[in-house]
Amino acid sequence: MRFLKNPEISDYNDYGTITLIGNALETKKKYAIKTLTKLEADLMKSFSDLYQQRTPLSKNFIERSKRVMPGGISHNVHYFPPYPFFIKAAKGSKIWDVDGNEYIDLWMGHYTHILGHHPQVIIDAIEQQVKEGFHWGIVFEKQVEWAELIQQLVPSAEMVRFCCSGTEATMYAVRLARAYTGKKIILKIAGGWHGPNPDLSVGIKMPYEREESLGLFPELIQYTKTIPFNDIQETLQTIHQNRLDLAGIILEPVVGEGGFFPPAKDYLTMLRSETARLGALLIFDEVISGFRVALGGAQERFGMIPDLTTLGKVAGGGFPVGVLVGKREILERTSPERKGKKWEKILIGGGTFSSHPFSASAGLAMLHYLCDYEDEVYPLLESRGVKIRKDLQEVFDKEGVNAVVTGIGSLFQTHFPFERSVALDSPNAINQRTDIEKREVEFRLRMLNHGVHVMHGGGGLSISHSDEDIKKIIEAAREVAREMAQT
Ligand SMILES: Cc1ncc(COP(=O)(O)O)c(C=O)c1O
Repeated sequence: MRFLKNPEISDYNDYGTITLIGNALETKKKYAIKTLTKLEADLMKSFSDLYQQRTPLSKNFIERSKRVMPGGISHNVHYFPPYPFFIKAAKGSKIWDVDGNEYIDLWMGHYTHILGHHPQVIIDAIEQQVKEGFHWGIVFEKQVEWAELIQQLVPSAEMVRFCCSGTEATMYAVRLARAYTGKKIILKIAGGWHGPNPDLSVGIKMPYEREESLGLFPELIQYTKTIPFNDIQETLQTIHQNRLDLAGIILEPVVGEGGFFPPAKDYLTMLRSETARLGALLIFDEVISGFRVALGGAQERFGMIPDLTTLGKVAGGGFPVGVLVGKREILERTSPERKGKKWEKILIGGGTFSSHPFSASAGLAMLHYLCDYEDEVYPLLESRGVKIRKDLQEVFDKEGVNAVVTGIGSLFQTHFPFERSVALDSPNAINQRTDIEKREVEFRLRMLNHGVHVMHGGGGLSISHSDEDIKKIIEAAREVAREMAQT
């Protein structure tokens, strides 16, 4: 078990990432539908046209792809208009598309490649694994080593269970919370994303009170409810209203879908003490923040131990993974050795490819590397993250573009508020007060035209992003800010 170090729950301004220009204004543009002026439409056309001129082969691929896959993609986040570029190769901080365009990548395999694309240490592990075998559906030693290392690194990981994705891990986490406590209600952050499993497909996009999709049981919202991130009073009120049947609270301690906001001072402390007081479980979804904002994840960084934690992404070294970890007493309840009728036991543990040998060997190699070089990796990611947020903010301020750069550690995003004076401290604030389309379409395409691949206006830095790369990203953003300022 790894000890917590540097407990560091902070208020946002400690991170220097939230810009408050005067008093916060309530925006009236909550659900405003944007109609483009002719000038805006022409300008939109020009950067979209340039993107299309640079990516004709990708256009052919997407047309072919759409004939066989809805929208041409297999994860909605892979799609953006007019169409996504198709990748051909990747190495370190760079990717190349099928048309030969080079980009500095900030998406990094959906926040997975903390060492950059195709690091040698992972290639070696996989080459070795190919020789040893690649799927047995039988337990093997590396799986145990991988679990032991996670147990050693993640403060809450007294026991470990592997699955194939973060979605599965969060699905199991809420099932376990309900089964262990014998209660039904799960609270999640409004705007929070934990994968598309039905239990947590509530309150992701605005308006939160509407169902996220056809095909979900309407009763779902009776048992999975939302709380506003960083709002202690409102959250306390919802906890109080649901106190008699509260099974657990799940949240990303650093919220990905909207800003990578760190928790406000006392927010996590309040959640920890309220769940403990009511006999409910506190679940941290560290699928993104695990092994990234610190070796032991956000729980180590903020000095707060949840009952259960879900992990993914970095944990698998670039291969499919989900991990559910937590208190021994709770996870033991899922053991197949337990006696009893099936309805007295907890079913956690399917997945033909759970703990696949490639994921185990790549994950083990990744975690060993991060462990061995912890003192170099995390300070480097931290300092580059601080620099990129600061420099980007300066560029937007200087060029007169109303943008706010948020984030923590190596993670960052850029937002375009409708008004000048807004406080951005939650997914709620981002969804209500910023122009998401401007970020997802205009800023993304303009940055791509300048050779930088951003996601949600930013991404996750890796140790392969050099000072030179950061400089190029800032220069690209400067050009883009100038273009945007002209509009
Ligand atoms: C915080 C969080 N939880 C869960 C998931 C789902 O993980 P996966 O895509 O591996 O199913 C994601 C995916 O991006 C995530 O960001």
